[in-house]
Amino acid sequence: MSRIQFQQVVVPPGVIDLGVGQPANALLPLELLRRAAEQRFAGPSAELLQYGAEWGDGHLRLALGAYLSEAYGCSVEAEHLFITNGNSQALDLLCTVLSRPGDVVVVEEPTYFLALTILRDHGLEVRGVAVDADGLDVDELDQVLDELAAAGRRVAFVYTIPAFQNPTGATMSAERRERLCSVSRAHDVIVVADEVYHLLRYDDGAATPSPAPMSAHVTNGAVVSIGTFSKILAPGLRLGWAHGPLALLERMAASGLIESGGGLNPVPGALVAAILEEGWQAEHLAFLRQTYARRVAIMTDALREHLPDDVAFDVPGGGYFFWLRLPDRLDAVTARARAQREGVDVRDGPLFSSGGGQRDRLRLSFAYYDDDELAQGVARLGRALRDR
Ligand SMILES: Cc1ncc(COP(=O)(O)O)c(C=O)c1O
Repeated sequence: MSRIQFQQVVVPPGVIDLGVGQPANALLPLELLRRAAEQRFAGPSAELLQYGAEWGDGHLRLALGAYLSEAYGCSVEAEHLFITNGNSQALDLLCTVLSRPGDVVVVEEPTYFLALTILRDHGLEVRGVAVDADGLDVDELDQVLDELAAAGRRVAFVYTIPAFQNPTGATMSAERRERLCSVSRAHDVIVVADEVYHLLRYDDGAATPSPAPMSAHVTNGAVVSIGTFSKILAPGLRLGWAHGPLALLERMAASGLIESGGGLNPVPGALVAAILEEGWQAEHLAFLRQTYARRVAIMTDALREHLPDDVAFDVPGGGYFFWLRLPDRLDAVTARARAQREGVDVRDGPLFSSGGGQRDRLRLSFAYYDDDELAQGVARLGRALRDR
């Protein structure tokens, strides 16, 4: 394959890759970006092209604080926001300031597989703690932190994806969030909450209200919440934020990366500031929620129609993913290979495991394909998973 590529994901022709966890091109807000650029580049705005302020552009931080306070339903002060190059980079920078090689990071088992790579890049050891329908098992976390302390191990932080987790779709209950804060305080360990999917909820009006984001615990717990525009606007902006205690954000601002290069992504940041100030972000999010809600319904129907009865799944209330449970007769890695032969790809459970587990799981995303392709992809998967 050529080394010259034009985007990160290239799906072979004819294949439907239900593993791709990113928005379809058709959902990307090109017109909003055009309007924002016209507005920001009109007039004498050369300042825009300077090195950025270390914590991120002040206009963006103010507009983001106001937007998140409204969307999260809790106070998010602009002073406690640090602009990042997306959540991947926020996690990387947090590793830089919070860890030393050889430290342990406690993660959910299973977790977002590319976060594991970032942690390993920093020479960190990863320890998994189970996730169930109510999110991270905080009692197990408490025990693991005791064990690690007894063994003299230094824990850099706990990494969690509290809402519509990648890959399970689970959301941590409000009670567990409270307990997570008290356990982390008791052990003097900071929680890095990756809240990438918090605003992507599709079952409004159903059963329970969303628990408050971990952002609500920033001022009274040992918590830093990271968020991103990748899923609510566009991944190519490479723009996100850390909402955390001032002392921690100060350390991030003093890192070599920021001192040398200035604040992260000032030009995309200025465009997104305009989008927030004009109220366009809220409109776009409403459009995404409506679109994804429809796709969840379509994928649910297709899975019920095409999957063998012994493959189980829960319908996600938000996020990007279905997390299938396979019967004993099927191993995830073999099942994925069978799917590929039918012209559909998925991600196998072990990818998301820090310890080689999850062999009975497959992750499917509904973000990248339109309604017809989703149904067609699931029909192919159904053929691949049938007993033969
Ligand atoms: C849990 C989680 N964190 C982070 C990311 C990447 O975020 P960003 O594009 O902001 O780096 C993803 C994208 O799939 C994700 O699922």
